Amino acid sequence: MKEAFKAIKVTDHVYWVGAIDWRMRDFHGYATPRGSTYNAYLILADKITLIDTVRASFKDELFARISSVIDPGDITYIISNHSEMDHSGCLPEAIKMINPEKVFASNIGVKTLNSQLDFDREIIALKDGESLSLGNLNLSFMETKMLHWPDSMMTYVAEDNLLFSQDGFGMHLASSERFADTISDEILHYEAAKYYANILMPYSRLVTRLLDKVSDMGLKIDIIAPDHGPVWRKDVGNILESYSKWAIQEPTCKAVVVYDTMWESTAIMARAIGEGLGAGGTSVRLMPLMGSHRSEVVTEILDAGALIVGSSTMNNNMLPGMADVLLYLKGLKPINLMGAAFGSYGWTGEAAGQIEEILTAMKVEIVGDAIKAKYVPDGAVLEQCFSLGQLIAGKLDNACSVR
Ligand code: FEO
Repeated sequence: MKEAFKAIKVTDHVYWVGAIDWRMRDFHGYATPRGSTYNAYLILADKITLIDTVRASFKDELFARISSVIDPGDITYIISNHSEMDHSGCLPEAIKMINPEKVFASNIGVKTLNSQLDFDREIIALKDGESLSLGNLNLSFMETKMLHWPDSMMTYVAEDNLLFSQDGFGMHLASSERFADTISDEILHYEAAKYYANILMPYSRLVTRLLDKVSDMGLKIDIIAPDHGPVWRKDVGNILESYSKWAIQEPTCKAVVVYDTMWESTAIMARAIGEGLGAGGTSVRLMPLMGSHRSEVVTEILDAGALIVGSSTMNNNMLPGMADVLLYLKGLKPINLMGAAFGSYGWTGEAAGQIEEILTAMKVEIVGDAIKAKYVPDGAVLEQCFSLGQLIAGKLDNACSVR
């Protein structure tokens, strides 16, 4: 193993020594069809330092990559920027194998690590703004509580203008490419947006605060080295700008129509709503749950201005797939959306009302009454659906135009 897995140079001082998980397809409910990476970094300073580790099952790959440049026993410090298991899973064993002088984490990180794992030594807490000398290089630490765990922190290397950003600015993307500038823009943009929507969206206000803080501090950032996906080393301003835009979730003239259907009645309603939206000049994404995963739905919502949701009624409830998606969306707290509910039914018809209730709880501005169709929508109901689409398109157009 030792010969096959190499460290990749990021700067004169920093090497990527992480692991590539080509197989992962689900990250607790977030579909990851392109797999992921668990990034760890080695700083070759006077005091050699390891930033984060990897998922426990990838420990051998981490150590093989470290061993391709140094003897792991030469590592003086280990810093845990984030205690979630994909970055700390092999930390106890890594500490035993390396026997570093000191191990550091944020104040909350110390508690979280000790709550999850067994360590044979003290982990030292670092304060927000604290610095650590590595001899010829200097590190400084920035607490980023709830981005996206309470323990989260980032580490900055002043000499390289490099920010180790743990999960921030990351993406789930297994690739042989280590740098964002060697990956297609389409994949980068989609996977970065998907990661933001599925992991960071609920903490958007904190993202804005962090970006403001970085700007106020005048922190020069040339390289962002996250814990997942590629390293950003060119045009770093682009990903910072995307985060700034995603964090405020400014509505665009785009509507997402999500639906699940039993016998196509709710599907026909969805298509009629889509026609009305399109006729009103709105860009439309129709997302049948038959072919759309919850994590794709929230990715589309990230830059949308409207969310229209439909389900047939089954056993006095919305269909289970829709309940799943709405529960997931509610937790991710999207903002600045208008929307409506619709759905077909045979004899009781609760689904549309239940959906409207959840959308209201999510602070979606409800536009128009929920539309219900008994068994199969007739021409009048489809006209109602078309009109709802047009009504939302008109409101969206106003909202987009006043920006
Ligand atoms: Fe990649 Fe929050 O762990």
